[in-house]
Order: sequence, then structure tokens, then C-alpha cells
Amino acid sequence: KTIYLKDYQAPEYWIDETHLTFELFEDHALVHSRLNMRRNEQGAGQSLPPLVLDGQLLELVSVALDEQLLQAGDYQLDEDTLTLQPAAAAFVVAVTTRIEPQHNTALEGLYQSGKMFCTQCEAEGFRKITYYLDRPDVMSRFTTTVIASRDYPILLSNGNPVANGEEKGGRHWVTWEDPFPKPAYLFALVAGDLCLIQDSFTTMSGREIDLRIYVEPENREQCGHAMDSLKRSMRWDEEVYGREYDLDIFMIVAVNDFNMGAMENKGLNIFNSSCVLAHPDTATDLAFQRVEAVVAHEYFHNWSGNRVTCRDWFQLSLKEGFTVFRDSQFSADMNSPTVSRIEHVGFLRANQFAEDAGPMAHPVRPDSFIEISNFYTLTVYEKGAEVVRMLHTLLGEQGFRQGSDLYFERHDGQAVTCDDFIKAMEDANGADLGQFKRWYSQAGTPRLAVESRYDAAKGTFSLLFRQSCPPTPGQSEKLPQVIPVRMALLDREGKELPLQFEGEAAPVGTERVLAVAGAEQVFTFTGLTEEPLPSLLRGFSAPVKMSYPYSRDDRVFLAKNDPDGFNRWEAGQALALEMLQGMIGIHQAGRPLLLDQRLRDVFYALLTDRELDPAMVAEMLRLPSEAYMVEVSEVADVDAIHQVREWVRGELANTLADVMWPLYRDLDDGAAYSPDAGSMARRSLKNTLLSYLMLTGSQDAVDACVRQYVEANNMTDRQAALVCLVNSDFEKQKQAALADFAERWKDYPLVMDQWFSVQAACALPGGLVRVEKLLEHPAFSMRNPNKIRAVIGAFANQNLVNFHAADGAGYRFLAERILQLDPLNPQVAARLLTPLTRWRKYDAARQELMKAELARIMAASSLSPDVYEVVSKSLA
Ligand code: ARG
Ligand code: ZN
Repeated sequence: KTIYLKDYQAPEYWIDETHLTFELFEDHALVHSRLNMRRNEQGAGQSLPPLVLDGQLLELVSVALDEQLLQAGDYQLDEDTLTLQPAAAAFVVAVTTRIEPQHNTALEGLYQSGKMFCTQCEAEGFRKITYYLDRPDVMSRFTTTVIASRDYPILLSNGNPVANGEEKGGRHWVTWEDPFPKPAYLFALVAGDLCLIQDSFTTMSGREIDLRIYVEPENREQCGHAMDSLKRSMRWDEEVYGREYDLDIFMIVAVNDFNMGAMENKGLNIFNSSCVLAHPDTATDLAFQRVEAVVAHEYFHNWSGNRVTCRDWFQLSLKEGFTVFRDSQFSADMNSPTVSRIEHVGFLRANQFAEDAGPMAHPVRPDSFIEISNFYTLTVYEKGAEVVRMLHTLLGEQGFRQGSDLYFERHDGQAVTCDDFIKAMEDANGADLGQFKRWYSQAGTPRLAVESRYDAAKGTFSLLFRQSCPPTPGQSEKLPQVIPVRMALLDREGKELPLQFEGEAAPVGTERVLAVAGAEQVFTFTGLTEEPLPSLLRGFSAPVKMSYPYSRDDRVFLAKNDPDGFNRWEAGQALALEMLQGMIGIHQAGRPLLLDQRLRDVFYALLTDRELDPAMVAEMLRLPSEAYMVEVSEVADVDAIHQVREWVRGELANTLADVMWPLYRDLDDGAAYSPDAGSMARRSLKNTLLSYLMLTGSQDAVDACVRQYVEANNMTDRQAALVCLVNSDFEKQKQAALADFAERWKDYPLVMDQWFSVQAACALPGGLVRVEKLLEHPAFSMRNPNKIRAVIGAFANQNLVNFHAADGAGYRFLAERILQLDPLNPQVAARLLTPLTRWRKYDAARQELMKAELARIMAASSLSPDVYEVVSKSLA
């Protein structure tokens, strides 16, 4: 059943107070609720409408209205609802349901992860716990009592603990009270035998906050980084957004079985353990950064999401886009801003652009869905964050802050829409964002074609912008959007020239943001004595596909000289991409490949300039990813992409080994491990070089790799060496490293995830056979989302040549796993479909094979709405 934004209606009843009591047992749980309810007087007619409560997979034990137990004829029950007829405008509903968390494999609602009980309620999981108005615009004050055996010493819920006690038979209870009204999706409960890592934070107004991280005892040593990240996030949100934490206690719990990254439940964030635990011996630098970003993201939700929440799920980007933007600002401030932007943009372009070009394309604010879980997408999150970033760019730091201050003040305690967010930005700045709002309603990635004209006689330089946006499902025509283009003009030395708009008296500095709003628009600059080279879309100031007729020499020049670090990287990427694309054509025609020496020259310059930031150099030495090359292809030839890209990497390695070796040895200085940004940057460059050097196939390289694997004093170096060995032909060394790794880390599930994914992503021939063997490994489990992502996800998303094997065996394998998983965990099953939804990108034969697998899934009986929606839209 499809739900439409245009059908939104305010709720007919409110729930002022929610009193919950959970009795947890080994084979079931009883949930008692008391709801103090009141009619929504707004727009109310004469008679009292029926009360329709949401509920799924519940056993109804009893229901009472104003203390009167109801009999079977007094209410209606179906698969998704419980309907009652209230007799007064204010009343109390009391419901008892019986549920079985032990058998909840979907990991939504109340479930067990190992021995621990925990919840995941966003978006619509609360209805699997009890009957309720499970919609974000119904906000209620919650009191929660948890009763369990002493085997579960820790009993947690939202807010503050207010009472506790013993019961007969070794059971005990704790009552929690959350003073802030919240929608049910922010409810949380945890019960388990957990150890506590505690710290504290003093807020800007001097309040002392009790910070707690709960993990299973064996993970006690891996929480320091998450705690530090939390404190930095709290300080940062005060300094940058003026947002102070509001409860006396803030808790994070790590669980091993979790569908997503983490969840911002009020005062009780629940995390996938992969986004909390980090220790240098077991987690890579990338994992450390991910923990920092996710901890910050969930913490920032306390304001952008919890204090101000969404009216309905179509507004999801209101909290997610804004919060991803906030966490990316935070990460930029904590790390290198340029490198962190490069990483974000690389991810967005390879993945969100592909989503925008596929059958599941939807606007940042979708107007319909079948299953909301399918809309926790890169478009809602990442493109949504880009939309907020553009507002920040257009309004400026200060104007944006005034807008966010007004938004938080005006809507504190409310459930609102993306329009309300924009309105606050407008009102605080006296701006008109009417046209800008098309970013929320139009799907697809806009194209921005730029040309220039230099008039030597007049000394003017004009930039001509032409925008368009391809059709997407349900949207054939698009209107022009507001595209902020941050830019500068460079002279022949790469210096920025003063920017003087035609008709203006004086220059306006050397960098500007041009707001391109028309389908076609021209900006003219004067006072130029030579033709400048434009540096456009700096920092990727808008999520568009921009083109400008740069020559290869222009790109080489920009890669070496653009004062803007991001655009230096961008020029290098564009240069490499253009060459790779040309070579793919040559390869397909069966002609021999030849490397344009200009790429080698750029690399040489990067490798020999010791002034540069090593992290930047590492980014610039990385060729565009295979996934991005697929995205920019008309018809993607994955074999050619892989072979040509590897050939170029090998060629660069062979011709530059002489400069790579001394730099690698320099960086491989045996220094004690340190987690600081500078050391991380050095590790990043060192390991990039190692992967190139391994492509030379020399004995020196494999010796260095084995030595680095054995002697590493941290997981970043060890894992990087393992990746190189696994992808090499040095069979003996590879097997030795894999065996050693598995033996060393067999008791660390998150480290075993790395062991799995390194192998599942290996592009050497025989990938599917290796992956099928990994599924048999005792550490693998179809019940654990992290394991599924590490093996099946890594194979289908990162191992393009093997997944797209011409015989279709990779597709068949994925379809079978999805059908196997769907009855257990529909959310994860639906997500695994992503690579098959991209069938239009491939040649006719592969298209047929991919569609055949989608059709096979479609034909299966009793598909979940999650999988049904993705498959049916993919075949439409
Ligand atoms: N709000 C969570 C976060 O982004 C994600 C929850 C995802 N839930 C889901 N059913 N997909 O921080
Ligand atoms: Zn979020």
C-alpha cells in the first residue's frame, strides 16, 4: 500500500502521558501501557471519532478504556490496528500485549541481541511493542518501568532513573522518567549484563552531565574514543550552534546486532557496536573516524531531531539531512577540512548520484512510499545534507546560524516540516528561498554545463551557465534550481585575480559564490588583462554534474596550482577519469594501452613535494573508484573498467617506484602508534604507496608487505598489508596472513568482519567460490547484519568484476541470499537489493540476467513490503 504526503492529516487524538511497564522473561515479554489521551480539538467535528491504534505482530492480552476492561465485541482488531470507540474527549487507555523478543529476527521493536534486550523503534517499530499512535507528530511524556531477573543487572530507558526496587523471586525493577515529550520512535529500552564506562561533561551554563557508555564486559577497553568523541561533540554543538544538552544523564549502549549505524533515542542512544568500539589494535583509522562521526551525529540529533522533530516521515530529511550536515561540519573541524570534504564528495558522487539515476530515485522530500524503512537513503541523508550545505553557502556562516537559532527557538517541542525549516532561514535573513525549495521536491542530479568567453579588447570574461535535470520516475519535467557556484579566476601563475562584476565600481575579493538560478545565466567580469582560468564549484558547492571544456593541460595546471585544495583534487580526478575513459574505448577496440605522461607527471610532482599534507597526497594518488567510473559510464563495462584502471595503477607504480620507495620507507618509520591527525595522514599515504608498490610484483614489495603485516603496531597498517596480500598472487604469503589474522582475532567479531570483507571484495578470479566458502565459516551468521554486509554486501557492492560475472552467477547468488534473508530481516534484505536495481547501467546481456533475478524475487510468495517495493519499482 502506497502512502502519500498529500494525504497527511493531523492526528485525531493526542497522548499526553505514556506509562509503560515491561516484564521481561526468557521466552516472552509482557508490555503494559497506560495512555492518558485527549481529543485533538483542532478541526474536530461533533461526534467523537474512533481511536485507531497502530500495532503489528502483537498478541493482545487485555484492553481497558477508563478502567473498564473491554470485551471482544467492544473493539476491532486486524493485522495492523486496534480500534476503540472513546466515550469522552479525555480518557485513559490501558493495554497489555505479549511479545517474543527472542524470536524477533527483524531487529525492529524489542529484540534480543546475544543475551541483551534492546529496542529499535524508528521509524515504525514501536507498534511491534504495543498498540499506539505510532507517528512522529504524536508526542508524549514517557514513564517506563522495566522488570527483569537479576541476570539483567542493567535496566535502562529514556530520561532519568527515578525509582528502583526488588521483587520476589530474584527479580528487580527500575523506573525511568523522561521529562521531554517525544514521539514513540525515540523510545528505547535496554536490559543486560553490561559494564559501564563513565565520565562527565560540564555544559556552558555549568550543569554537570553524567556520561555513560554501556558495553559487554569484553569490550570495556574499546570505549575511550567514543567517550572523547562525545565530549568533543557536546562542546562543539555549544560553540557552533549554541545548543546545550538538556537531561542530567546521557547514555550510549553498544549492541552487536543492529540494522543500521545507530539511533538517537532520547538520552539513550543505541549503537551498532561497529560505531562505538575502537582500539588501535582492532580498529582502523577509518573506523576511528566513523565512530567519531556517528557519535556526533546521534548526539546532534538531540536538537535536530528530538527537541525539534518531524511531522511525518516524508520530512525525514528535516532531521537527517540537517544532522548529517552538522556531523560533517564537526568532522571537518576535528580533522583536515579538505580531506574530509573530499571523502564525502567521493562517496556522494559514486553512490547517491547512482541512486538519483536509478529506479528508486526520489526527491529529498519524497512524496510517496510503500515502506518508510526503504527511504533511509543516500538521497535523504547525503543529498539532504548537501541541500543544507547550500543554504549555509548562500546565507553565509552568520546568516545560517541566525536561521538555525530561530528554527530551534520557534519550533522547540514541535513536530514540523522542511517548509518550517526553510521559513526560519528566510525569516532570519529576509531572504526568499521559494525557488531554492525545488531541491526538496525534484529528484535527479542536475547537470550544469559551463562555457566561457574572453573579450581581450574589453578585458571581460563571461561565464555562461546552462542547467538541466534528467527525468526521474514520476517526474518528467524539471524546473531550474538555485545552484551556488563557489569560484575564482586564476592567472597563469595560479594566483587568484580580483573579481569585478561588469557594471560594478570595484572588485569584490577573489572568491565568490554565484547563485545560478536560471536555465541559462551569464556572469561577466571586467578589468582582466589576460584570459583567466576559472576554478569552478569549489568545495563541490552544489551536488551537480558540472562540465567545463578544460583541456588536459588546464587540468594538469589546476591539479598542481589551484590554491583551493578541493579543486586541486578535483582537477586530478577529472584528468584521470578522462584518460581512463579514453583508454577503456581503446581497450574495448583491442588496441594496446598507452599512458598519457601528464598523469605520471602530476603523480611525480605529488610524490616529490614534501611540503604537501600527506593525507591530501594520498587522496590525490587515488584514481577515481570503480563505482564512480560505473556511475559516469553510459554503459558500464565492468571488466574493462577494472582492467584498465588496474593497468594504469600498475603502470604508475612501475614508472614511479623509484620515488615511491624512499617515500614509503620514510613514512614507515616504526614510530610508536599515535591517533593524531598527522600520524593518521602519514599512515594513509604510506599504505596508499604500499598498494601501488605491490603492483610491481617485486620481491622487495611483498617482503615489505609481509614485514608490515607482522610488525604493525596498529590495525590500520596491519589491515592495509592484509588487503595488499589478499589481492596479490603471492599465494603462500596471502594464506599465511589470512590464517594468522583469523587466529589472532577469532574472538573479536568486528575484526572478523574486516577479515570477511577484505576477502569478499577481492577482485581476483573465483570470487563467488571464495564468498560461498566464507558463508560456511563458523564466524559467519545470516542473523547478524554486520556479517551480512561484510560478506554479501562487500561482494555485491565492492567486487564489481566478480559480482557482474558474465554468466550471471553473482546475480543468482545475491537473489538467493535475499530470498533467504527476507523472512528473517526485511530491512537488511531490501538494502542488499541495491546493486540489482542498477541494471540499466550494464550491457544488454547483463541487463537480462539482472532483471531475471529481480523477476524471480518478485515471483516469490509473501515478500515483505520492503523487498516488494524495491523490486517492483526496479522492474517498473
Ligand atoms: N535515525 C537513525 C540515524 O540516522 C537511523 C534510524 C534508521 N532506522 C531505520 N528503520 N532505517 O541516526
Ligand atoms: Zn540520523
